[in-house]
Amino acid sequence: MRSHFLFPLSALFLLLVCFLGSVTGGELFSKLPQTLILTASPKQGQVLIAGESSIKISWGLNQTKALGSDTSAAYKKVKVKLCYAPVSQQNRGWRKTEDDLKKDKTCQFTVTTQPWTKNTTTGYDYMLERFLPTATYFVRAYVLDSGDKEVAYGQTTDAQKGTNSFEIIGISGRHASLDIAAACFSAFAVLSLAFFFVKEKRMRKV
Ligand SMILES: *[C@@H]1O[C@H](CO)[C@@H](O)[C@H](O)[C@H]1NC(C)=O
Ligand SMILES: *[C@@H]1O[C@H](CO)[C@@H](O)[C@H](O)[C@H]1NC(C)=O
Repeated sequence: MRSHFLFPLSALFLLLVCFLGSVTGGELFSKLPQTLILTASPKQGQVLIAGESSIKISWGLNQTKALGSDTSAAYKKVKVKLCYAPVSQQNRGWRKTEDDLKKDKTCQFTVTTQPWTKNTTTGYDYMLERFLPTATYFVRAYVLDSGDKEVAYGQTTDAQKGTNSFEIIGISGRHASLDIAAACFSAFAVLSLAFFFVKEKRMRKV
């Protein structure tokens, strides 16, 4: 009798947990302290080529800022991301900025995730990946705690995201169509292999 009662109850509880999990969002960007000093090698307005150019990104704790309330004991990782500058977000809902970081579409490309180091400045060389779309970007880094929750950030641009942005030129249409051709060709190869396999099987039966 009792276990009959308990089972639906625990199922209900589980459902509730799932529901709450989906309703409550992520961390709010506006609540994060900017305790990282983040720099990237491209100069304002510099034009870079996806798949060819590389950039150097460095980060470290802003000691002045961190002095008063040093919360960096909770810092575990730094996740560096490429983010769309406002000029490349206009009329593009799929790149929209949201304060809720679970919904935010500003920073869609992860450059690297590195363990947190307190005292030193960490540098990272990043070769711009081929799939990056043509757009204007800046760099932002989120500090994550042991639960991979965002607890602080740093970015190369100012609060209005108006300075220190650079342009990336994506792989041209010619390359894209070559890629598509290669994909079609391999699909064709698989299909014809299947065809001959089936054909041979039938011939054996006869
Ligand atoms: C570090 O933090 C201090 C205090 O908030 C700030 O005035 C300073 O501009 C920051 N330094 C850098 C390089 O961002
Ligand atoms: C980091 O800084 C703290 C305080 O300034 C110091 O006690 C510690 O030895 C430093 N660690 C390294 C690895 O430099």
